[in-house]
Amino acid sequence: MCKTGILYSLLMAAPIVGLAQFGPRTPEQDSLIARQQRKSQADHRAMMATLNIKELRPGPSGNPQAPNAANADESKATTYTSLPDPLTLKNGKKITTANEWWQKRRPEIVEDFDREIYGRMPANTPKVTWEVVSTKDTVDGSYPVMLKQLLGRVDNSAYPAIKVNIELTLATPANASGPVPVMMSYGFRFPAGPRSAGLRPPQPPTSTTAPAASSWQQQLLAKGWGYAIIYPTSYQADNGAGLTEGIIGLVNKGQPRKPDDWGALRAWAWGASRALDYFETDKAVDAKQVGIEGLSRYGKAAVVTMAYEPRFAIGFIGSSGEGGVKIHRRTFGEQVENVASSAEYHWMAGNFIKYAGPLTPNDLPVDAHELVALCAPRPVFISSGSPTVEGQWVDAKGMFLGGAHAGPVYELLGKKGLGTTEFPSIETALVKGDIAFRQHSGGHTTGPNWPTFLEYADRYIKAPKSR
Ligand code: GCU
Repeated sequence: MCKTGILYSLLMAAPIVGLAQFGPRTPEQDSLIARQQRKSQADHRAMMATLNIKELRPGPSGNPQAPNAANADESKATTYTSLPDPLTLKNGKKITTANEWWQKRRPEIVEDFDREIYGRMPANTPKVTWEVVSTKDTVDGSYPVMLKQLLGRVDNSAYPAIKVNIELTLATPANASGPVPVMMSYGFRFPAGPRSAGLRPPQPPTSTTAPAASSWQQQLLAKGWGYAIIYPTSYQADNGAGLTEGIIGLVNKGQPRKPDDWGALRAWAWGASRALDYFETDKAVDAKQVGIEGLSRYGKAAVVTMAYEPRFAIGFIGSSGEGGVKIHRRTFGEQVENVASSAEYHWMAGNFIKYAGPLTPNDLPVDAHELVALCAPRPVFISSGSPTVEGQWVDAKGMFLGGAHAGPVYELLGKKGLGTTEFPSIETALVKGDIAFRQHSGGHTTGPNWPTFLEYADRYIKAPKSR
């Protein structure tokens, strides 16, 4: 079996929605997954009815051997020829100044992403009170660290039936002479946990390809930075069934979403902002130098976080694929139709479903390059694995183009884009500009790209000396 075939069978063995873990599931877990799936499908159908949609186009299969396999042939990828121009206002006028970007064009793009793609974050979200659950002086490899377990308790006085807590881990070098920069990662639950399965092969959150002596956490500690891990599913489930629970359900008082209400990606990003609120109160952290990293669905969450939260200083966006920085208008790998299905629609606004029927991806008012543009002028590193090891589902070139076509906005703001629209060969790092891209030769992980990301990040982020 080819590598992509192995990857596919590893992943698709577990249903898209529900609990994913290693090894066989218990009958109780199977029935929980079945219940969740039925509830997600019912919510998805109800949203279709609200939108007056009778039928959706099905997405292609992630199995390269399937008769309806996703396209992996570049010559068939460009069915749509033009992308929305991030520098042209809806009235047709081209903008030429940074001021026009901030005052006019950026708000237009934000409104389109809010209404049609990721949904609107409610104007008022409940207050979060952070509690330090435990503090421990410990050692990671040879690095002395202060490890904190934190819990963000979300005020549920408006609807006590739903209880929400944000789980966060923070590790800072114990020998720092001042507040340190921190990279926060969106953490998958391992070995088992309330997350949905998908493309991601079962592997621990640290890279399996990097030597054990240099986990990403240790690479950060070696530079005098800290790291944090936020667990998105602690405050918003990774399935449609959970949309009436978690932070989305709490704000809606247990009622279903409206078509432009926020989806899980924005809810996850909301939690990251609340973690940043906490960092602003912790003397060990330099809250002006906090970055965000995520892989796959959390790569999507990481770029959404960067786009909507200006306090994040840098983004490391791993294999975000469709719904992340991959151009929606490319017929290659995962498609809009897949994300609009009952297995994944919960990441997005209900309105996004429309683009899988009757509308098409070409009708989207914005595309993924404009999401990257919303991160400008801050640095964003776009990461991908190898097409033969990771597979073609994430569409590395589509993600590269998402970065490349954001360039004009960075340039308008006095920064540098990727510097080319030509897709580089594998392991060629494009890191000279403020948007960066690299395809490593490993699988579905950011692991092998951490050293390159950190070298690039050094230009922006400075750690205090260690004592
Ligand atoms: C699936 C899904 C992707 C997603 C991935 C993951 O493969 O189609 O969009 O990024 O799961 O998060 O593991």
